[in-house]
Amino acid sequence: MVRGVVLRVAKAAGRALGRGTGLTVAPAEGGQKVVGPQAFGALNWSKGYATNSHDHFNIHRNSPENNDETPFEFTAENDKIVKEILARYPENYKRSGVIPLLTLAQTQNKGFLTLSAMNKVAEILETPAIRVYEVATFYTMFNRSKMGKYHLMVCGTTPCMVRGAVKIKDALCEHLGLKDYGESTADGMFTLSEMECMGCCVNAPMIAVADYTKGVEGFTYNYHEDITTKDAINIVEHLRRGEAPKVGSQHRETCEPAGVVYEDQWVPKPEGYTTLTGEPRGPYCRDLKKEAAEQKS
Ligand code: FES
Repeated sequence: MVRGVVLRVAKAAGRALGRGTGLTVAPAEGGQKVVGPQAFGALNWSKGYATNSHDHFNIHRNSPENNDETPFEFTAENDKIVKEILARYPENYKRSGVIPLLTLAQTQNKGFLTLSAMNKVAEILETPAIRVYEVATFYTMFNRSKMGKYHLMVCGTTPCMVRGAVKIKDALCEHLGLKDYGESTADGMFTLSEMECMGCCVNAPMIAVADYTKGVEGFTYNYHEDITTKDAINIVEHLRRGEAPKVGSQHRETCEPAGVVYEDQWVPKPEGYTTLTGEPRGPYCRDLKKEAAEQKS
């Protein structure tokens, strides 16, 4: 009886494991075994993986722009930054500089880390290359495949999801002629992917944009919040024209209670359910502009 229950649970778990991954799950005595006619390398990770599309960018495939022969050296200017970064750490803890050095290498290399870029970082840090590969593969801010000039990242975590992240994704895909996350436009301008919570859920839904068009000096990584599908397309069109779209909330100053995106519309001061029974008591939000002005005076 107990064994039967265990087997049924194992089968259900196995089905769940197989769902959406492209893998098949075959029952086997003593548990479930994942088998598949597909070799792992043949899977489309951007679609089949349960977390986010970034897995697509974390797999190395030899390509004309990223192979054993692709050269990478820090520019003379960035070499100075490398030295500044290394100076922050004790000589025997050099490898603590792996994240800032990878960030620098990626920004110099227009948005992605080639094998040689990672090897260069390992060489500078005097650490085994695998230590650098591990970091570059683990953190989703590092890309190991060629990216568009602008990397558009749609937040897909719960608050953004319930406020319209799926509509934002669909609108961007349609506007850019893409089928799914993990793809780039044919002209190499935009790459679209999904990110996990980017920490401004109060202004959901939101996207982040990494702009690799202006080198290390001009690199920006901006958040665009409280967006509707119309706002998302407007942001893309600004970028396409080389203009700077509005950063932060598209409809309010910061995150004051001025409204909310609901059903793909900005709704100012919506009436409705609230857990408040009166005016909330302080402390209230600081007046940041006033404080900044006071600091200057
Ligand atoms: S869920 Fe999107 S920023 Fe937190």
